[in-house]
Amino acid sequence: MVRKAEEHELFAEEVADSEERKTLFLEAAEIYVNVSKICSSHQVAHYVQRAKECYLKSQQKKTVISPIIIETKIIETKKVSFDDVVGLENVKEKIRLKIIEPFKHPELYTYFGKKIGGGILMYGPPGCGKTLLAEAAAHEAGCAFFSVSVGSITSKYVGETEKNITELFTQAREAAPSIIFFDELEALGSERSNATEYARTAVSQLLTEMNGLGNREQHILLIGATNEPWNVDIALRRPGRFGDHLFIPPLDFKARYKLLKQYLKNRPLAGDVNLIAIAIETQHYSGADIVALCDDAIEHALTDSLKVKAARNVTMDDFINALAQKHAKSTIQWFKMAIKELEKNKDESFQEVVIEGRKVLSAALREVVA
Ligand SMILES: Nc1ncnc2c1ncn2[C@@H]1O[C@H](COP(=O)(O)OP(=O)(O)OP(=O)(O)O)[C@@H](O)[C@H]1O
Ligand SMILES: [Mg+2]
Repeated sequence: MVRKAEEHELFAEEVADSEERKTLFLEAAEIYVNVSKICSSHQVAHYVQRAKECYLKSQQKKTVISPIIIETKIIETKKVSFDDVVGLENVKEKIRLKIIEPFKHPELYTYFGKKIGGGILMYGPPGCGKTLLAEAAAHEAGCAFFSVSVGSITSKYVGETEKNITELFTQAREAAPSIIFFDELEALGSERSNATEYARTAVSQLLTEMNGLGNREQHILLIGATNEPWNVDIALRRPGRFGDHLFIPPLDFKARYKLLKQYLKNRPLAGDVNLIAIAIETQHYSGADIVALCDDAIEHALTDSLKVKAARNVTMDDFINALAQKHAKSTIQWFKMAIKELEKNKDESFQEVVIEGRKVLSAALREVVA
């Protein structure tokens, strides 16, 4: 039995598919729990620990970002579709028009004289679905997908960063049609943020490559994502570059409810779990905060089950417990910081942030007063 669990673990570390990885780790955890019930008493703690480790690993995503661009291969798009991204309907529609349809019906775009190309800049609080949306867009478009964490391509060594960027675009051209996704775009810096000289040359190189994309035959589209849009170089934000700016707001009530339902679909929930109440209580939580909250509640039930060596379902009390842990309402912190930055820089762009932010902050204040 133990060997089987170990095999599952080993295999899970190898597989690329995140769902398969998760299932394998969960299966390994279950085997270890069963082993802990029948093993000698001095080994119980050991197997319980291994079960916990496997469970935790099942919740972690395998990273798809290659640290060095030169070694970047086309990343197999995960099986994430727009249906997996809850809420954000108008954002999905815009991405569909700008990214997916041009790949599927280039002739129509040519007929209407609509230029294909350029890029989208997604911005908003952390954990609200920017990366997920980019992955889903690539999957829906059915094209090659290059995912790049900008922080990882900016090398300290002279000329390395430019080389990385050139290599990335060469690979994307060869694999076209393709999408290049630049995560943490602000890491390239801007004039205002006193970026290093290296980062400045990286911006110039990126601009050169992007200008070359004007050629319709190339079929490369760009998506950028950032939590600090004001720190993205203004030259990169212009039309034809990352010219379309899409605000990815925090999840509304309906989206939070959908996310809870989706995430807890195959979990053993007790009859008293009220997802509507949880969705109400999680106002100002990001999607990632909600997932973390669910994981906490599940872990609570798992730990209890391990103690008594009998599985029990996740109850509303487990969620109440997890809610009481005061998960940071990360979107509130972000809005505070964003409004401050935009006001400090007298930046007229990204007004949606200011409008939405003021609403969020006054709602949060009302909550405190009440
Ligand atoms: N709209 C959403 N629909 C479904 N799941 C979501 C959504 N938003 C967030 N999540 C959950 O939260 C996790 C984190 O989301 P994601 O990585 O896309 O956030 P992000 O906006 O890219 O954050 P960051 O700015 O920190 O990179 C997702 O893997 C998913 O589990
Ligand atoms: Mg992200």
